[in-house]
Amino acid sequence: MKRREALLGSAIVAGLAAGDSFAASGKRLGGAIIPPEKEMGIEKHVPIITAPASAKAGEPFTITVEVGKTVPHPNTLEHHIKWIQLYAQYEGSQYVIELGTFNFGPTVAHPKVTMPVMLQSNATIYALEHCNIHGLWDNSVEIKVS
Ligand SMILES: [Fe+2]
Repeated sequence: MKRREALLGSAIVAGLAAGDSFAASGKRLGGAIIPPEKEMGIEKHVPIITAPASAKAGEPFTITVEVGKTVPHPNTLEHHIKWIQLYAQYEGSQYVIELGTFNFGPTVAHPKVTMPVMLQSNATIYALEHCNIHGLWDNSVEIKVS
């Protein structure tokens, strides 16, 4: 719960209103239940993270996050992905580290980002994305570091 609160705090700083949805895990701010997955288009919204399962401490590797990887998300002025944010949290740490925020221009920018990352120990990588119609969605992967 602390992770989610920390991420939500960052998302609110990034410009979300308190009533915006946070839906990938099935919850919204305020505790309301989200509509069925088919109505929300989960396959169009959950950010897909591509990252190695393991890495060496201090050595850079790449993480790619894409929204609409299997089912394309609309990309119009009226309905588009506004941004993707990446975070890392080291195992056992209460702190969440922002890795980057990537803003997209509707109709021209495809919501996919790749960035180099260096970790010092085992960590969880979190990706958030914001659709201007359907709100905030998240995903995460764990990376073992030796
Ligand atoms: Fe959407």
